[in-house]
Amino acid sequence: MLQELESLERKLMDEIAAAADEPAIEAVRVGAIGKKGSVSERLKTLGKMTPEERQVMGPAINGLRDRITQAIAARKTELRDAAIEARLATETVDVTLPVRPAPAETGRIHPITQVTDELTAIFADMGFSIAEGPDIETDYYNFTALNFPEGHPAREMHDTFFFNANEEGERKLLRTHTSPVQIRTMETQKPPIRIIIPGKTYRQDSDATHSPMFHQVEGLVIDRHANVANLKWVLTEFCKTFFEVEHIAMRFRPSFFPFTEPSMEVDIQCDRSKPGEVRFGEGKDWMEILGCGMVHPNVLRMSGLDPDEFQGFAWGIGIDRLAMLKYGMPDLRAFFDADVRWLSHYGFRPLDMPTLFGGLSA
Ligand code: DAH
Repeated sequence: MLQELESLERKLMDEIAAAADEPAIEAVRVGAIGKKGSVSERLKTLGKMTPEERQVMGPAINGLRDRITQAIAARKTELRDAAIEARLATETVDVTLPVRPAPAETGRIHPITQVTDELTAIFADMGFSIAEGPDIETDYYNFTALNFPEGHPAREMHDTFFFNANEEGERKLLRTHTSPVQIRTMETQKPPIRIIIPGKTYRQDSDATHSPMFHQVEGLVIDRHANVANLKWVLTEFCKTFFEVEHIAMRFRPSFFPFTEPSMEVDIQCDRSKPGEVRFGEGKDWMEILGCGMVHPNVLRMSGLDPDEFQGFAWGIGIDRLAMLKYGMPDLRAFFDADVRWLSHYGFRPLDMPTLFGGLSA
């Protein structure tokens, strides 16, 4: 009996020494001193022994249990320490490495988005709110309600993308300008109206300065007294703030749009004497940047407003062109190439939101 205990002890001690990790030593513990472990089973036999036998076997089995328990605990500590040592050795952190930039650091805002945010900030400060309308328009909103007569050559000038006719024979189109949203706004809002309409516009045109999809920002002011002087002030203030210059000379030239009377095109003063560079607010050159005018009485009437009671002004500017001019980007096509290298060069940091108090492009 005692010999058998000795060989069990040797076997268990070998197992304890051989246990290579914490799960292994735990398995040895369960197998020896767990509820049905080899040592526990032997302890249960004490009850059936004669008192003489028990006097010998009792201390022997209990002693075995104590030594095994101790040996397991010691090996467990050893293994736990070794595991920690191993983690410390492999999971090193080199605190001298540069911090990997977060997504907000590496992402870039597209110049179109940036310029749209800039002009939104400028006009919001003047009390304008934003209006939007659908990219897919009807002929009525894109042309008729804007006083383009049927068959008028100005319709042809827009190089419109038309959809196939639907069941009712109606041909929808991709809006050629943001002006249809003027009509949609006047139909649903009562004057005074003071809105800007930034958005996508479409024409069949493609070269270094024209893309079939481009962006405009429309402006519309309607009340009882809005006049050309107000229009000039709004546009002059806008240009100074946008180009971040103290003074800018502007030239209002007579022009023609069916939806305004009178109509004007606006040039801004610039200096093009240095090759590859345009400076605004100085110099003797002029650059056309927008179209504007007093809203035509027919347009007011078709939108449900009485031209004897209300009047107003409107303008349309190409956002892409503004971006190219302000940030010196020569080719419009690169705007829509989705080239990450271009975007990381010309793009803006996402957390640098343009505001008038914080600086537009700073
Ligand atoms: N819709 C015109 C265009 O795309 C731009 C324009 C000119 C808009 C005069 C206006 C305006 O609101 O008054 O060419």
